[in-house]
Amino acid sequence: MEKIQGPLMELSPEEKRILAGEQGKAARKAMEILAALGTIYGADRLVPVSSVQIAGVSYDNLGEAGLEFLSEMADHGGKTQVLTTLNPAGMDIENWRVLGIDPEFARQQERVIEAYTRMGVVPTCSCTPYLFGNVPHYGEHIAWAESSAVCYANAVLGARTNREGGPSALAAALIGKTPNYGLHLSENRRPALTVRVVTKLKGTRDFGALGMALGRLIEARKAKAIPLIRGVTGATLEELKSFCASIATYGGLALFHMEGITPESVLFPAPDDTLAITRDTLEEAVSLFQEPILEDAVDFVSLGCPHLSLEELGRVADALTEKKVKKTLWITTARPIKRMADQMGYTAVIEAAGGVIAADTCCVVAPIKGFFHTVATDSAKACYYAASKNKFKTLIRSFDEVVEEALR
Ligand code: F3S
Repeated sequence: MEKIQGPLMELSPEEKRILAGEQGKAARKAMEILAALGTIYGADRLVPVSSVQIAGVSYDNLGEAGLEFLSEMADHGGKTQVLTTLNPAGMDIENWRVLGIDPEFARQQERVIEAYTRMGVVPTCSCTPYLFGNVPHYGEHIAWAESSAVCYANAVLGARTNREGGPSALAAALIGKTPNYGLHLSENRRPALTVRVVTKLKGTRDFGALGMALGRLIEARKAKAIPLIRGVTGATLEELKSFCASIATYGGLALFHMEGITPESVLFPAPDDTLAITRDTLEEAVSLFQEPILEDAVDFVSLGCPHLSLEELGRVADALTEKKVKKTLWITTARPIKRMADQMGYTAVIEAAGGVIAADTCCVVAPIKGFFHTVATDSAKACYYAASKNKFKTLIRSFDEVVEEALR
């Protein structure tokens, strides 16, 4: 987003009192962060938000400095003003030993969660808050940080959020407001590029591939354009969350318009600048982001980026009934979804087959570098980070093929 160093953002009398420390040190720090951000980006004022979603939860990413900042904010009386949920942590909070997590890491991760919880943050530890209660509606201002969820909120739900960083999301939670700039403003939500999808898409793998292909094309252009995507004749929630994660990762987008899906897409005429996505474009993009791997090289199978829905957990349970996996299989999801899976009997089936359901975490933020060599996944986003962060080789397959891979 373009930085516009303008005059100091206008603060209300109450906001000025918070800045002067009237509501304690944590609120003052939070207001300082928001005022600085608003000034850098040329915001005219702060707007109230209805919810916040915070990223920067794994101790693997936060480190000691991040933990210290959070503990200080909690010690200094920081309290959330609106519903605030958390992104995945570095481990399953209840079941970390099964994942091979180091006990010292677990201790520090628990301190991170404790600091957030003391401030009133709900420790959902998930990148899909919209699956269980943090569901903003059309036009609502929110301050979310997780890139896939930001895209989902803007493009599928029609809410308004920039992609926040960890500190700015926490600041928004403690004040209940965010600076009014970027995607909070109608004029910045207009599409500038028409994308015609001329191939039929099916499943999370295909939608992830679309994000890879389109993201790559958008990144190659001089100016980043918000696309208006035409030709996608239908998409499930699961396909959309896969696409959101992928287009945010490969194209750095926080908003797209998809005809028939994005509520605002009806407000805009199709831009003249047009490009087409064919089946070849998709497959070429997938091949670019994968190294060739040997048959039988897969030693890790991962589903749940973004976190799996209950429906997807049911599909895995169906496929694994009375079978045994032959490779390490991690299924990552949110704890509220796992609880429903427990009730439905899915967890018992998956665990009887030898699969691991890891709640609260994911294969990207958990400290698993060196644990495996080659991962099979349906997720374009997981593929990107498995290669760049964990140095795994990657194989992208359809959801059902990935489950099959675990059984092979
Ligand atoms: Fe979610 Fe982790 Fe993927 S945060 S989108 S499962 S990288």
